Amino acid sequence: MTTANEIAELRARALAEIVAVTSDDTLQAWRVKYLGRRGLVSEASRGLGSLPPESRREVGQAVNAAMQALNAAFEQRKAALEQAAAEAGGALDVTLPGRPVALGQVHPTTRALRDILQVFDSLGFRVVEGPEVEWDRYNFELLNIPADHPARDMWDTYWIDDPVNPGKMLLRTHTSPNQARVMERTEPPVRVVVPGRCYRYEAVDATHETMFYQVEGLAVDVGVTMADLKGTLTAFAQALFGAERRVLFYCSYFPFVEPGVEVAIDCFKCKGEGCRLCKFTGWIEIMGAGMVHPKVLADVGYDPSTYSGFAFGLGPERVALLKYGIDDIRLFYANDLRFLRQVK
Ligand code: FA5
Repeated sequence: MTTANEIAELRARALAEIVAVTSDDTLQAWRVKYLGRRGLVSEASRGLGSLPPESRREVGQAVNAAMQALNAAFEQRKAALEQAAAEAGGALDVTLPGRPVALGQVHPTTRALRDILQVFDSLGFRVVEGPEVEWDRYNFELLNIPADHPARDMWDTYWIDDPVNPGKMLLRTHTSPNQARVMERTEPPVRVVVPGRCYRYEAVDATHETMFYQVEGLAVDVGVTMADLKGTLTAFAQALFGAERRVLFYCSYFPFVEPGVEVAIDCFKCKGEGCRLCKFTGWIEIMGAGMVHPKVLADVGYDPSTYSGFAFGLGPERVALLKYGIDDIRLFYANDLRFLRQVK
């Protein structure tokens, strides 16, 4: 007499055996052994009629379920063997042309960032990073830009609507907040560069995006002077744009530096004669810079009578525009692969 337990054991044995089947022949033999007309499952179902009515239903259901499970296992194994045979070469048409491998490439901003950071690395600057969601305190106050200071208009700001800290959080408008962040946690001497995304609520045009990158630089030590700023930034510009480049420093204003400068290189397209790239001035501006304001040093706990330093901030997209001959910054983040593939 057959019981439901015996059917379950038979089913388990058959499923264990099929796992070891690796050829068509043994698969067919397995099928005959268990599912054939004289197979073990059919044998078991043949005895159903002689079972007492109370167990007939239970054993009948077990036989049906076993049949289904073994049929499914058979089909699955058959498909797996066929696929293995195809992969082993049976279905490979070696006369077909090869499939091209799609290669990605480095984004122009990433390339510019790598070039820039490599130069500063060779000049002894360490790379650090800071948050994109920033406090008003770091983005403005510790940079000598208190609330209501008119210079806040230089940075059109995206404020974050946080009910717990109303009016205190923003998307950083520049990487300069990292000047205070780094000095707060470091004893001088300091020599760092800080790459990262910045955000400004401003009209987009060929040289302005609402999201763009900056690289901040900061060097603080005893006796750092404007000559160090000029020497470092000249070495940087010549390493990046060519040893023959001339570098121009002219007065500018940022509340966190004194004096403040803009840095420009002579136009490498027209060699200073005047062209569209340099807007017919002969010079191309590449960054803002200056000597760190004594108040900024004092506010992070550095003694301004002992320490001095310089800082700068430049835009890698603008560097990429110049270096790779791109004429519109809006192409950078439009995600058009035709553009991204073109910049080599
Ligand atoms: C600043 O943001 C200052 N924090 C720079 C600085 C740092 C000065 C340290 C002194 C000391 P400015 O707003 O000029 O300055 O921006 C610096 C650079 O960021 C620009 O020269 C430009 O390359 C880039 N930049 C600014 N706004 C945009 C924009 N909307 N799209 C793309 N690049 C931008």
